[in-house]
Amino acid sequence: MKILSVVGARPNFMKIAPLHRAFEAHPGIESKILHTGQHYDEKMSDIFFNQLGLPKPHFYLGIGGGTHTYQKANVMLAFEKVLNDEKPDLVLVVGDVNATAACSITGVKMGYPVAHVEAGLRSGDRKMPEEINRIITDAISNYLFITEHSGLVNLAKEGVDDGKIFFVGNVMIDSLIYFREKSKSISVLENLGVKPKEYILMTMHRPANVDNAESLKDIIRIVKDATQRKKVVFAIHPRTSNNLKKFGLYQELEQIENLILVGPQGYLQFLRLMDNAALIITDSGGIQEETTFLQVPCMTFRDSTERPITVELGTNFLMKDLNPITVKKQMEEILDGKSKQGEIPPLWDGKAAERIADILYRENSGKV
Ligand code: UD1
Repeated sequence: MKILSVVGARPNFMKIAPLHRAFEAHPGIESKILHTGQHYDEKMSDIFFNQLGLPKPHFYLGIGGGTHTYQKANVMLAFEKVLNDEKPDLVLVVGDVNATAACSITGVKMGYPVAHVEAGLRSGDRKMPEEINRIITDAISNYLFITEHSGLVNLAKEGVDDGKIFFVGNVMIDSLIYFREKSKSISVLENLGVKPKEYILMTMHRPANVDNAESLKDIIRIVKDATQRKKVVFAIHPRTSNNLKKFGLYQELEQIENLILVGPQGYLQFLRLMDNAALIITDSGGIQEETTFLQVPCMTFRDSTERPITVELGTNFLMKDLNPITVKKQMEEILDGKSKQGEIPPLWDGKAAERIADILYRENSGKV
């Protein structure tokens, strides 16, 4: 059985790595990887392939950045050619980036079964590009692998046939468990001059937060408040630094005392930074889950989350009114020891990818 797995952007790589490993270890499965090229920098892409032990992608579409329509249309045209030549038995997509939606549409339209890993998550906010990608992909995929109970509820509400849905756990946590020990030997804390539990880690990259000057100013306010309490390591995404420069705000950020401004980090570096942080302030989707597993407090600068288990069971706090004053209040409470310990959600045990490999093989072995 030949599975063609798709990656496009940074959060896909750590999800595909354990799947590729599980497929390779399975006697009945051949695994190939296609990279659409949405993220293309050394720091946003190549370093992840190296650190996660992924092979060079078998297919690279090189589509690069651009508007979402540009990205999706070009990925679809190029992916159609690959499917015509390669004829896999199944297309597998992960997460909610543009590649996920573009390749699931192309695969289904051409008659290939499609599996969506990390299905069923819903923020309820259709202004988020990822929410549209999730809805499209789930509506048309043949296999929906879910990470948390809310996925079952959301898919049932949308009338999805039960037989397509499999609660398997979280492949991103598979990677975290697999690489956590190795990350401990990476000397990123030493290089940045920070000590365990004595710094706050920050990331921000959502269009709603970083594409307009008002909310970039709020982010600068949050950084200033946080640096009053501890050193802050801000791993800045290219979208965010480009926009700070565009709105003339980059210098103000750069000059903040106690702030360590760094570019995108490698997987192992960032894992070690998360594992040892006193607190993480972010608007990322995946970091909410990783911090829940690591039982590190996380404040998410968003008014909704598609990953409610991280708030209900985990260490995540949602900053609903997106106000720096609320962030400051919550931050003070956490740093003063009023956080929550959290629990690790069901099936986040490092074995999700193996479950997926077994299910896909079992479901398809009669057909290939
Ligand atoms: C994408 C995903 C988002 C994910 C994020 C993680 C979608 C809709 N969004 O958002 O879900 O959380 O990735 O990073 O798919 N850039 C570079 N080098 C790169 C890649 C990007 O400089 O290797 C810059 C470009 O200026 C680009 C901008 O970053 O225009 C934004 O990149 P894009 O891929 O459009 O979206 P992300 O914000 O990264």
